[in-house]
Amino acid sequence: METILTTTASKLTIFHSISSTKLNSFSRKFSVGFSGNKNRKKVTTLKQGSFSYLPLGVQASASQAAASSTEAEPTKVGTVPSEMKAWLYGEYGGVDVLKFDEKVTVPQVKEDQVLIKVVAAALNPVDGKRRQGKFKATDSPLPTVPGYDVAGVVVKVGTQVKEFKEGDEVYGDINEKALEGPKQFGSLAEYTAVEERLLAPKPKNLDFVQAAGLPLAIETAYEGLERTGFSAGKSILVLNGSGGVGSLVIQLAKQVFGASRVAATSSTRNLEFLKSLGADLAIDYTKDNFEDLPEKFDVVYDAIGQCDRAVKAIKEGGTVVALTGAVTPPGFRFVVTSNGEVLKKLNPYLESGKVKPIIDPKGPFPFSQVVEAFSYIETNKATGKVVIHPIP
Ligand SMILES: NC(=O)c1ccc[n+]([C@@H]2O[C@H](COP(=O)([O-])OP(=O)(O)OC[C@H]3O[C@@H](n4cnc5c(N)ncnc54)[C@H](OP(=O)(O)O)[C@@H]3O)[C@@H](O)[C@H]2O)c1
Repeated sequence: METILTTTASKLTIFHSISSTKLNSFSRKFSVGFSGNKNRKKVTTLKQGSFSYLPLGVQASASQAAASSTEAEPTKVGTVPSEMKAWLYGEYGGVDVLKFDEKVTVPQVKEDQVLIKVVAAALNPVDGKRRQGKFKATDSPLPTVPGYDVAGVVVKVGTQVKEFKEGDEVYGDINEKALEGPKQFGSLAEYTAVEERLLAPKPKNLDFVQAAGLPLAIETAYEGLERTGFSAGKSILVLNGSGGVGSLVIQLAKQVFGASRVAATSSTRNLEFLKSLGADLAIDYTKDNFEDLPEKFDVVYDAIGQCDRAVKAIKEGGTVVALTGAVTPPGFRFVVTSNGEVLKKLNPYLESGKVKPIIDPKGPFPFSQVVEAFSYIETNKATGKVVIHPIP
């Protein structure tokens, strides 16, 4: 069966596109620094086997974007092939274990799953740590197609799927438990199979690149804030405010939870960026020790692994939520659970522009440069999310 899909045509990928005037001036400055990026291409229609589609969200000039964003381009989805292109590794190790394979079997959908034609995928630090074998005790068997985050189009549905149908544009983190048996066939492939409960409709205002950068990071940001009992009027310090998770913690704390005051840490180059996200105080970790400042916080959200220091920055009765590293009481750690309901709850904030996806300006990395993308995220210097697009 052949399905004709209609999707919104290409949009300009907006880097660090927070709507405030402050950010506008910052993002102009920031984009200019990367204007020579060779990954930025004009929009072209790709043909791949029996499938062809218009890649969305790749770099376009402002005039191209303005011209195309009002049009609806027909996107053709052919019969799902039995084999696909994917990145995989058959042993744990450095980035050199990653191999490109043109003949990976397309995963079967279980009754509660949909098959997604992947349009964009994003990397998270967990992808690198998993590939290094840090979670091998609870990992699925090798070989592994990595990738947690996906944005794409539903091309097949399992018998028990109720909410989604072929042609729906969706996004999500495909692994319900990040470290317990994550899927063998992840999102760095042309197709991936995902339980419908882990997915949400792609926010209408976002392109696939922007949507792909959200799921794991925004669900982690939200779950961590919820677990601390964060609520309106409380203050928070975000350690690593410029990374994938921290850049969303700042925005959610302010825009969704009603924080009274947000402070965050980064290196010197990212201080203005933190403010553009809504931080009232940006702390340069290369110059100041946040725990030595007189100001204390109701919550410290530790997205870098400094819990021993974080507990010194909380008020009496305050809380530290830690994502990584050793935990010092009263701090606690959690591992994110993927949940499409969280994305659905946050979709209005994304669609209204109150919360923005942050895509690292070195990307998006084309599918051929997955190794470079892994090498980059593993420098621990990414600002926002490292996204892979287009995918053949
Ligand atoms: N437990 C969970 O469920 C869970 C979920 C998601 C992530 N995590 C973990 O949480 C951590 C953060 O994830 P992420 O995706 O946000 O990482 P990321 O995007 O890769 O973080 C990169 C950022 O780290 C910043 N950074 C580096 N050293 C720093 C320091 N000493 N102090 C403050 N910021 C520093 C960098 O800012 P500068 O360039 O300015 O230095 C850069 O912007 C990772 O270890 C990840 O594995 C855990």
